[in-house]
Amino acid sequence: MTGGERAIARLVLVGFMGAGKSSVGRLLGDRLGWRHIDLDEEIEREAECAIHEIFAREGEDGFRRREREATRRIAHLPRVVLTPGGGWFAQPGLPALLGRDTLSVWLQVSPERVVHRLSDDPGLRPLLSGSDPLPSVRRLLEDRVASYRQADLKIDTDRRTPEEVSAWIEGRVRPHLISDSS
Ligand code: S3P
Repeated sequence: MTGGERAIARLVLVGFMGAGKSSVGRLLGDRLGWRHIDLDEEIEREAECAIHEIFAREGEDGFRRREREATRRIAHLPRVVLTPGGGWFAQPGLPALLGRDTLSVWLQVSPERVVHRLSDDPGLRPLLSGSDPLPSVRRLLEDRVASYRQADLKIDTDRRTPEEVSAWIEGRVRPHLISDSS
């Protein structure tokens, strides 16, 4: 399943902002008894400030540098469900930092659903600021979709709850996980 048919030692959930990566990651970690690591939370802890403040102070380049450093720090931990931010999978060389015993899952979401889901916390996504985010969502998603397509599995999240998505992923990966003793 990981390309080389190795047992899966970690899972990474990829996809656009608002796809539900963090919620699904938390539930999936609980289901599997694996640790859930949210990369943006790791970055915020290290920087001692919120993601939108990092963007304001250091720009997107500063944020991407921190994203790379945080990925390096956790790259070889086993039994982890990793949920990075929506741009992570499209950064050249970043996904390859994780070992080949990593399985990636693309949580697909439509631009309309992104806007609906993110309307509760406007201002927290620096790349989507502005009064009408739909055109920016469409453009960014178009830029990234070729990367997301490289994921090992995909599931449409538009009409599914995080519980349903996590149950589906568990069903697909459970037989292929590394054993608890390895
Ligand atoms: C980003 C997505 C955000 C966060 C940052 C950049 C992106 O995470 O990492 O604002 O480039 O798509 P979520 O996908 O969890 O919203």
